[in-house]
Amino acid sequence: MEPKISKIGVFTSGGDAPGMNAALRAVVRSAIYYKKEVYGIMQGYEGMIDGDIVKLGARSVGNIIQRGGTILKSARSQEFRTKEGREKAFQNLKKHGIDGLVAIGGDGTFTGLHKFYEEYSIPAVCIPGTIDNDLAGTDYTIGYDTATNTAVEAIDKIRDTAISHNRLFFIEVMGRNSGYIAINCGIAGGAVATIIPEENMTLDDLFHKLDEGGKTNKKSSLVVVAEGSKLGGAMELAKKFSERNNYFDIKVTILGHLQRGGTPTYFDRVLASKMGVAAVEGLLKGEKDVMVGIRNNIIVYNNFSTIINHQHEIDSESLRIAKILSI
Ligand code: F6P
Repeated sequence: MEPKISKIGVFTSGGDAPGMNAALRAVVRSAIYYKKEVYGIMQGYEGMIDGDIVKLGARSVGNIIQRGGTILKSARSQEFRTKEGREKAFQNLKKHGIDGLVAIGGDGTFTGLHKFYEEYSIPAVCIPGTIDNDLAGTDYTIGYDTATNTAVEAIDKIRDTAISHNRLFFIEVMGRNSGYIAINCGIAGGAVATIIPEENMTLDDLFHKLDEGGKTNKKSSLVVVAEGSKLGGAMELAKKFSERNNYFDIKVTILGHLQRGGTPTYFDRVLASKMGVAAVEGLLKGEKDVMVGIRNNIIVYNNFSTIINHQHEIDSESLRIAKILSI
């Protein structure tokens, strides 16, 4: 018989992502629906260690479904990586009687929670919240859709000015070690080339592609560069290409953190709502040490050990399409 859960602690951790608030709302309201108490842990693992824990009610999460960021705040805690830090966190959870956890975050968050589960056996369910869409075990992470739409909107704007001035832009997008955001921004933004860590494009391949454009009278071009590119970031690539190019006028834009903010799209809100409810229902049914995912539109529970350190692979069809359309 699984131990009965009566008090759920919820927190957001790692890089914030649009839709985290919608997920929090879903966790709080479904916990209350099932007559459980729910506590918000501020600033991720930092708040767990410092005892910054507040009781939440259905109204505490009113008017947040449409808000970017996270009202619980977030952090990347170094102290939780230590045994002493985790012991302090456990004592604080015990003080509040918290006997189940829901974490909203990415790979780093899950890795910490998996360790914590192994040490203290508090049932824990994670909700994938990161713009990177880099987690195995789910087709989508919360925030990816919004971040990609934001980036594509920015790329469209850059295209207007690129065309007006006959310029070549190197545009860098986020994604840490994953090229998910980049490849789909490249397709949707009509890039001439997309540089992602998963592909072994050489500098020669890239320069050849850009030279081809010059030869066929291409007046302006956009190159999308994933921040994890092994060939170098947008700045570096632009510098290298400008040393050998006298055709294009070259500019660089690094989109950076603007991709992390803003109102979540309908897709992210619905995804977050489904995952939030699934996390609570999973906990109450005895799931522990798992991450909620969505595969082919169906909610699944993945064992942490099968997803930690396994990156969501980019499908070969996207790579093929990007290549065909960039001539
Ligand atoms: O994981 C989300 C993300 O935005 C990555 O795309 C990026 O590499 C990283 O976080 C940036 O982290 P920080 O905001 O801590 O600089």
